[in-house]
Amino acid sequence: MDKWVFLNGEFVPSEKAHVSIYDHGFLYGDGAFEGIRAYNGRAFKLERHVERIYNSLHALYIEMPYSAETFAGYIEKLLEMNEVKDAYIRVTISRGLALGLDPRNIKGEPTVVVSTDKLSLYPKSMYENGLEVVTVATRVANPQVLEPRIKSLGKYVANIQAKLEANQMGAGEGLMLTEDGHVAECTGDNLFFVKNGVVNTPAAYLGILEGITRETVIELLEKIGVKVNVGVFTRFDIYSADEAFLTGTGAEVIPMVKLDARNIGDGKPGPLTKRLIQEFYNYIKSLA
Ligand SMILES: Cc1ncc(COP(=O)(O)O)c(C=O)c1O
Repeated sequence: MDKWVFLNGEFVPSEKAHVSIYDHGFLYGDGAFEGIRAYNGRAFKLERHVERIYNSLHALYIEMPYSAETFAGYIEKLLEMNEVKDAYIRVTISRGLALGLDPRNIKGEPTVVVSTDKLSLYPKSMYENGLEVVTVATRVANPQVLEPRIKSLGKYVANIQAKLEANQMGAGEGLMLTEDGHVAECTGDNLFFVKNGVVNTPAAYLGILEGITRETVIELLEKIGVKVNVGVFTRFDIYSADEAFLTGTGAEVIPMVKLDARNIGDGKPGPLTKRLIQEFYNYIKSLA
């Protein structure tokens, strides 16, 4: 953790940034979060991340004490205070403090925390050689139970279970399916695959997080004239794909070369994936 943390309207030294044991996020997973990346001292797609967390909070019926613009300003100020160039910014907001799950018992404002840190999810070799992914038994939540567009704290228990399964099988990531067996997403990343020059990705309504890297990549692909098809797929589509890759704030764009021990294409990062990774880094540089 870097030197300063934003906690409930103040910038406090990180060793003094504590949250109550009665915090509803801690007790019940009642809150939402965001992971944002900073490149060269600037938060990437900050407006979109702030918009997404405000939408999550609105849906959870948690009212932020500041406007989205003011909050984005606090995030930028924290980056400056911590003097960090490349960082992972973690925003965590819970309903507030109360014992008992009834939200009417909450007195006072939501708990709001922003911290910055270093995060590298995968070693460089995995970006060069690609990730091996396995299908895990833990399914994504049914959207009628847990709306996936809400990046809620509680939802991630399933993703952590799924990650444990992937770790136990020695895989780089775990592919989560929907209840009826369609391909959804990985534990912390969205999934894309290439077939006959078209890039395909599962539709949001299946129960995936609408990733901000996912939308960035779709825009970049369309800009370079590659057709993107959003649809419903099974594992067979991935097994028989020419290339595949994952996207996320933590992972950025990373090639996926195997699913359940089957090679995807020739089992090496594909040409379109490599080109896209280059386009993605060029885009980041162009914003700096
Ligand atoms: C389950 C899940 N899917 C996809 C993503 C990718 O989303 P984004 O690109 O906004 O980081 C994340 C990242 O946090 C995630 O947790």
